[in-house]
Amino acid sequence: MKPAWAFICAAALLPAGAWAGGQDTPSGAALHEAHCTRCHGADIYTRPQRLVNSYAELRKRVQECELGAELGWFEEEVGAVVSYLNDTFYKFRNSGE
Ligand code: HEC
Repeated sequence: MKPAWAFICAAALLPAGAWAGGQDTPSGAALHEAHCTRCHGADIYTRPQRLVNSYAELRKRVQECELGAELGWFEEEVGAVVSYLNDTFYKFRNSGE
């Protein structure tokens, strides 16, 4: 029988590694690293013809991708990833949100 602590250790290591590139929203970075890099890499956030051109559009797109990937996130998790992506890649001024 496999000891239960092996699973606990594996779960504990995952977010620690994913936080390496994080700024002031480490949980957003960790969530993104764990769930959002399956279909596309971070390079699409900075490509010349990117789809997202405002903070509101960024939030909408993250929600759509989250729904599409069936992650079942709460508002806090969506918000953490939106601010991580904005801080790290998009750098929109966070007006009114
Ligand atoms: C099931 C596959 C899939 C997963 C998982 C996924 N995405 Fe996407 N995402 C897409 C596709 C497809 C596009 C549109 C690409 C295109 O049109 O070139 C996209 C585009 C985007 C864009 C817009 C990029 C731009 O051009 O500005 C953002 C932001 C984004 N995704 C965020 C996320 C986040 C955050 C997650 C994790 C919650 C996520 N994605 C997970 C498929 C996915």
